[in-house]
Amino acid sequence: MSEKKSPLSVAPFQSSTESSYYARHIFFCLNERKSGEACCALQGAQAGFDHCKNRIKDLGLSGPGQVRVNKAGCLDRCAGGPVAVVYPEGTWYTFVDNSDIDEIVESHLKNGQVVQRLLTPPDVGR
Ligand code: FES
Repeated sequence: MSEKKSPLSVAPFQSSTESSYYARHIFFCLNERKSGEACCALQGAQAGFDHCKNRIKDLGLSGPGQVRVNKAGCLDRCAGGPVAVVYPEGTWYTFVDNSDIDEIVESHLKNGQVVQRLLTPPDVGR
């Protein structure tokens, strides 16, 4: 009898009994390609990042035990850009404007509820 291999090559996330320094991270790809290839920088990524950072600060959600908003380089899902990913859930979003960011902040980053309508399709890659 052959053993079926898992498609995963890394161990799945295991929750810890220790509390994390931040409850959630959101990483925004801000990568720019000069070649003209699809990239998040040409799709308004910086504006989304700036708006998210300001919203989190204005709502008093930044800092230890809460939310951290970070810049990232290419996350290799450029065709779905601009993209951002939330951890520890590993939820990928494609956003268009500030109202999308507001919804991600209020629903997911603050209340832990995934925004289904903004999920990046699972087959979107580079
Ligand atoms: S340029 Fe944003 S994911 Fe690649």
